[in-house]
Amino acid sequence: MFFSGKIFMFTCLIAFVFAIKYRKKYARENEAYILECPLNPTNTNETITWSQYNESISANIQRRVHATGKYLFFLPAVMNDTGLYTCTIQSTLKSKYSHVSLIMSESHDNCSAQPIYPQRLGMGTGVYILCPDIDLYEHKSNFIWYKECKPLHGERYMKIDTGLSLNHFTELDQGIYNCKFTYTYNGKTYTVNRFKNITMKAAYIQRKPTLETAINRTIEVALGDPLNISCSAFIGYNKSVLAAIFWSINGTHVASLNYSRFQEYARNYITPSHEFYIESTLHIRKVEEQDFNSNFTCFVSSSRGGQDSIVILKYPE
Ligand SMILES: *[C@@H]1O[C@H](CO)[C@@H](O)[C@H](O)[C@H]1NC(C)=O
Ligand SMILES: *[C@@H]1O[C@H](CO)[C@@H](O)[C@H](O)[C@H]1NC(C)=O
Ligand SMILES: *[C@@H]1O[C@H](CO)[C@@H](O)[C@H](O)[C@H]1NC(C)=O
Ligand SMILES: *[C@@H]1O[C@H](CO)[C@@H](O)[C@H](O)[C@H]1NC(C)=O
Ligand SMILES: *[C@@H]1O[C@H](CO)[C@@H](O)[C@H](O)[C@H]1NC(C)=O
Ligand SMILES: *[C@@H]1O[C@H](CO)[C@@H](O)[C@H](O)[C@H]1NC(C)=O
Ligand SMILES: *[C@@H]1O[C@H](CO)[C@@H](O)[C@H](O)[C@H]1NC(C)=O
Ligand SMILES: *[C@@H]1O[C@H](CO)[C@@H](O)[C@H](O)[C@H]1NC(C)=O
Ligand SMILES: *[C@@H]1O[C@H](CO)[C@@H](O)[C@H](O)[C@H]1NC(C)=O
Ligand SMILES: *[C@@H]1O[C@H](CO)[C@@H](O)[C@H](O)[C@H]1NC(C)=O
Ligand SMILES: *[C@@H]1O[C@H](CO)[C@@H](O)[C@H](O)[C@H]1NC(C)=O
Repeated sequence: MFFSGKIFMFTCLIAFVFAIKYRKKYARENEAYILECPLNPTNTNETITWSQYNESISANIQRRVHATGKYLFFLPAVMNDTGLYTCTIQSTLKSKYSHVSLIMSESHDNCSAQPIYPQRLGMGTGVYILCPDIDLYEHKSNFIWYKECKPLHGERYMKIDTGLSLNHFTELDQGIYNCKFTYTYNGKTYTVNRFKNITMKAAYIQRKPTLETAINRTIEVALGDPLNISCSAFIGYNKSVLAAIFWSINGTHVASLNYSRFQEYARNYITPSHEFYIESTLHIRKVEEQDFNSNFTCFVSSSRGGQDSIVILKYPE
């Protein structure tokens, strides 16, 4: 058991309450943690103080938890540090304050049960994974990167400064990464870990095509006007997948209808971030009375599944 029921419920409650209003930060027990005040003093007369639930926090650096200007140090953090912290800028005229909620989690070796920072990356290119929120830690050493809690080796991975550079990111590179380093403060050393959930911008492999335009909606158009309705679908990152997109009217494929009134043009394209789309545009030369009672349906399908969406025409208000 990693959590007792009570602590777990308490953490959930805190997470829920704070999710509404405050910026959230995550720390692991027994590791050094530094909170930064989001406010900046505008002149030298302004000082920052820290408090928790109206109790001011000491500046004595011998204390496990102490404040130094903009920064609140937890050396190390413990489970009951979970809570709301307030930094206040006091000046002669007025005071400003900001709340930060700190959420603690237990330290254990389960990679999937950590406070995780998300990062989504595009496929195909070289990527750079940053160790989040670590600029505040001045004296750091022994920097190591892990994936699924195993140290990373090999030519594909390159440590650059505090980040990890990766050649040609693919689906297989998705997972939980963590950076670990040693932090030295006031003669003592502490361990710090940061976990990141690295996912692809769209994990193509589990996806069915999804329509992104012409999604179940009505379009206002005047009788006799021409009209183009385009419908596009995101297919994934891999264009070798077969997919089709087409329009039907009242359930009949446009290709088998009267060509003088309806025409359909299909194309596909790739965005600079390698996303593959297919698109079909329905051209209506001249909108007629009966079109206002018709269902215009765009279909997309591939071996992964399909989706459809109905467009209804209506007279302008
Ligand atoms: C700082 O406070 C002193 C004394 O109250 C005052 O003379 C000075 O103008 C203040 N400086 C700023 C930048 O507000
Ligand atoms: C903090 O103190 C202020 C003023 O004394 C009071 O209005 C507020 O309710 C207190 N907040 C907490 C969390 O105790
Ligand atoms: C929190 O835990 C620390 C270390 O275990 C302990 O010294 C401190 O008294 C605890 N504080 C509260 C409010 O329970
Ligand atoms: C990582 O992110 C993916 C995609 O958002 C999600 O499905 C997965 O559950 C996340 N994993 C963890 C451990 O948070
Ligand atoms: C690790 O944590 C995840 C998510 O909390 C949980 O589903 C899984 O069972 C845990 N694995 C182990 C080995 O404890
Ligand atoms: C419809 O698309 C065609 C071809 O792109 C274009 O020539 C025409 O002007 C468009 N009509 C409307 C109403 O947008
Ligand atoms: C693209 O799809 C083909 C066929 O499913 C698969 O063999 C190939 O590995 C995929 N490529 C990428 C980059 O996912
Ligand atoms: C249009 O679609 C609606 C909802 O799917 C359906 O109830 C109706 O019968 C359709 N009308 C025609 C003419 O196909
Ligand atoms: C096709 O549409 C045109 C214009 O509305 C109409 O004149 C013609 O009779 C239609 N042809 C057929 C086969 O329905
Ligand atoms: C579609 O069905 C409706 C209702 O049956 C009909 O009024 C309309 O003429 C049909 N549209 C076309 C283009 O055939
Ligand atoms: C449009 O509505 C239909 C019927 O409610 C639904 O099956 C379909 O998934 C919807 N399409 C989109 C793109 O939301």
